[in-house]
Amino acid sequence: MRLFSVISALMKLSSSNSAGDSEPPVKIIVAVARNRVIGRDGRLPWSIPEDWQHFLDSTEGGTLVAGRRCVDELVDTGALADGRRRVFKVSTTQKGPDCFSDFPSALEAAKECGRPVWICGGERIYGEAMPIADELVLTLVDVDFEGDTYFPPWKDEFPCLLSERKSQHGEIPLYFRVYRRDGVKEAPKCV
Ligand SMILES: NC(=O)c1ccc[n+]([C@@H]2O[C@H](COP(=O)([O-])OP(=O)(O)OC[C@H]3O[C@@H](n4cnc5c(N)ncnc54)[C@H](OP(=O)(O)O)[C@@H]3O)[C@@H](O)[C@H]2O)c1
Repeated sequence: MRLFSVISALMKLSSSNSAGDSEPPVKIIVAVARNRVIGRDGRLPWSIPEDWQHFLDSTEGGTLVAGRRCVDELVDTGALADGRRRVFKVSTTQKGPDCFSDFPSALEAAKECGRPVWICGGERIYGEAMPIADELVLTLVDVDFEGDTYFPPWKDEFPCLLSERKSQHGEIPLYFRVYRRDGVKEAPKCV
């Protein structure tokens, strides 16, 4: 009888440690100018189709967490129309089933969906997510832009560049990067 209890306890322990019970990854996704500008007048300061497609491809099938203004922009661009991504909004002035008055509550609800969680801004949300996200998926739009919304400095939180792909939008160099907060600091893989 005692042997049976031990085996049963071991089985429970092993199943609770299985990958199926682990939390989904939390990733920040952003496109940032060299001077860390990300927005102007409630919109992106640029129109770069390759980066927009990168955003859509990366977030497909995931759960998004974003501030009220970002959600408005996502709705306006049609990014939510195909139903391939669900969004949880952070707002103190609006109410609704997918609306939360603070970032931690929105994040917990998003994690419960069991799909990768994508933190989509804006400025305050990025600031709150920076210490807790697992990964940073960042497009460096490598020129200065005028703007009113900024991404926080990220290199202390995410010192490890995992991969980098270079591209070009007209005269503007683009770097599609993935950073982790831990791991081996080494030269990026250029793909
Ligand atoms: N380049 C990029 O990758 C990128 C990504 C995202 C955004 N953007 C740009 O950034 C701008 C939008 O960002 P934003 O910072 O201005 O606005 P935002 O975060 O999208 O929206 C601001 C509103 O969200 C709510 N909110 C945000 N953080 C909150 C918090 N921690 N707790 C409670 N409520 C919170 C508040 O809504 P209430 O007033 O209703 O309480 C606040 O007024 C746009 O220009 C957009 O294009 C760029």
